[in-house]
Amino acid sequence: MSKKPYYITTPIYYPSGNPHIGHCYTTVACDSIARYRRMQGYDVMFLTGTDEHGQKIEQKAAEKGVTPKEYVDEIVAIFKNLWSYMNISYDRYIRTTDDYHIKTVQTIFKALYDKGYIYKGEYKGKYCTPCESFWTESQLDENGKCPECHRDVVEAKEEAYFFKMSPFADRIEKLLTETDYLQPKTRAVELVNNFIKPGLEDLCVSRTSFKWGIPVTFDEGHVVYVWIDALSNYISALGYENDAYNEFDKFWPADVHMVAKDIMRFHAIIWPAMLMALELPLPKHLAVHGWITFNGQKMSKSLGNVVDPLVLGERYGADSIRYHILREMALGADSSFSNEIMINRINSDLANDLGNLVSRTVAMVLKYFDGTLPEEKQSDPMDEELITMAKSLRSIVDECIDNTTLNIALAEIFKVISRANKYIDETAPWALAKDEANKPRLAAVLYNLLESIRISTSLLSAFMPTTMPKVWEQIGATAEDVSYENADKFGVLPQNITVHKGDIIFPRIDVNKEIEELNELIRAQAEKAQAEADKDGANLEPLADIIGIDDFFKADLRIAEVKSCEKIPKAKKLLKLIVNDGFGERQVVSGIAKWYAPEDLIGKKIILVANLSPAKLCGVESNGMIVAASVGEDARVIFVDKDIPNGSRLS
Ligand code: MSP
Repeated sequence: MSKKPYYITTPIYYPSGNPHIGHCYTTVACDSIARYRRMQGYDVMFLTGTDEHGQKIEQKAAEKGVTPKEYVDEIVAIFKNLWSYMNISYDRYIRTTDDYHIKTVQTIFKALYDKGYIYKGEYKGKYCTPCESFWTESQLDENGKCPECHRDVVEAKEEAYFFKMSPFADRIEKLLTETDYLQPKTRAVELVNNFIKPGLEDLCVSRTSFKWGIPVTFDEGHVVYVWIDALSNYISALGYENDAYNEFDKFWPADVHMVAKDIMRFHAIIWPAMLMALELPLPKHLAVHGWITFNGQKMSKSLGNVVDPLVLGERYGADSIRYHILREMALGADSSFSNEIMINRINSDLANDLGNLVSRTVAMVLKYFDGTLPEEKQSDPMDEELITMAKSLRSIVDECIDNTTLNIALAEIFKVISRANKYIDETAPWALAKDEANKPRLAAVLYNLLESIRISTSLLSAFMPTTMPKVWEQIGATAEDVSYENADKFGVLPQNITVHKGDIIFPRIDVNKEIEELNELIRAQAEKAQAEADKDGANLEPLADIIGIDDFFKADLRIAEVKSCEKIPKAKKLLKLIVNDGFGERQVVSGIAKWYAPEDLIGKKIILVANLSPAKLCGVESNGMIVAASVGEDARVIFVDKDIPNGSRLS
């Protein structure tokens, strides 16, 4: 009988910087699902890759003095190395610079043009000349300037192609609200209210201001908008409109596209619209997860945690990292990351619960039976609860995989592991061992423990593929014993099973010592990064024109204390602060919400530009400006010593 096809995809990543722990989540989650589906007997196609076009890549390559292709090649190698280290079992890796993908995108663009869904028009917006970028009103910084370089923007227009999305609005609304396309479905409301109800706007799908993209075949100078290029990867990778592969009919429509919330809109609205326009079937599910965050902010490298998955993996093992991120993230919510939470989780779940269960059980079989259990066993009604739990685990995990609730799957597996640990306390094998007459009972207890380990680790192996085979070696289980088919049966291991002593699978970590070492690592990394940045000043803004001291003193810079701070609901980039400038309190609005949570600022002393004329930012009055340094794309507020009195002037 031929196997049922199953197609799962991650987003394709921008190779614009090294991957961090946040990038690992989707890939590890999809890998776990792909592995589970393979165990279930599906013919799986698991796709991942890189999204290599666009202005940002072009700029970064230019900064480094290399071609865009050279630039992405280097980072793609880093991504691939990471995936291999994390034991990611992708079946295909797509690069949007691959020829076959380019052919597909060009064919799709032309087909949409021929069908009348793509038309030529004029793009109007705010243009930043130095950055050669168009911005919409809402993308501008808090001063109405370019969000990248913070210089003035001008009204400008350019010829561009547009994709008509309105014909699909009703069908998309139904897809989101009446089908189980979106997981979790609760997200449909924000999509419908924010994008569909106000009227689906036509999407600008070509650019002429930069070159690093897929050329529009019938109009020189235009390149295809990077999202049309990127989304098409899901079908070009199967051979849609190209000769590289021939698996479109077999695998399309996809079973699951998994993405994080920031790119949900593209997958929930634009991608279905493209497929509808091409008259292709729609994917079955779009699973949307939250972000791995630090203090409620999306991850960025500068926030005082080690986030390089390779560094973490080397210290704790790839499976521990996989386990931690999968266990922490609930579908539909963000999950907060810290090195400390991770280490505690590894200690409690992996070293204590699972590791101890395996090592205690194996040690007892070795100690009381020289490693081989006798055939003769004596069961007891008290065994039933553990046996029933273990036998029903597979169907619970199946359901979690169907619903993409991987954290729940892991929690359920660890319930059985905890129950088995409790069973050891209840049955007290060390007491049974004291009397030879109890040996059949003792053998039954140890057998039940080995069976519980077999079932839980066979299901766990989809999530932690590297370490589970080591457990199986210790409990003497064969590949057949730990198959999916056997995961809902109790009594699979031979009655006279032989166990083997092995290494500790998850060594306990000394939390304090480890955190100290990680902090040292962070300091060293920051120093290295700083030294590199200082070396040639290449990434720095050019120095401004010379001014006289009188000009400098026109700016009245004062020390002020942040008394309170809150987010502004309708302006995601802004924080509203009340500061004491020594004369009294005043309200200041600052565009630093991306990097700071209110609690990071309250009680701190900062530098205030105190004599700026008042301005309204998103309708909220601001009297002054908080001084911050631009570090790459990040802003860092300058905090000053608490002892400096409020109102002191900088001179
Ligand atoms: N290239 C686009 C995707 C195109 S798919 C047709 C893109 N790339 S990305 O590299 O910026 O992000 C890829 C995925 O990683 C996104 O789903 C993004 O949200 C996710 N993550 C990046 N940082 C993350 C966290 N800190 N936490 C969780 N996911 C994170 O968007």
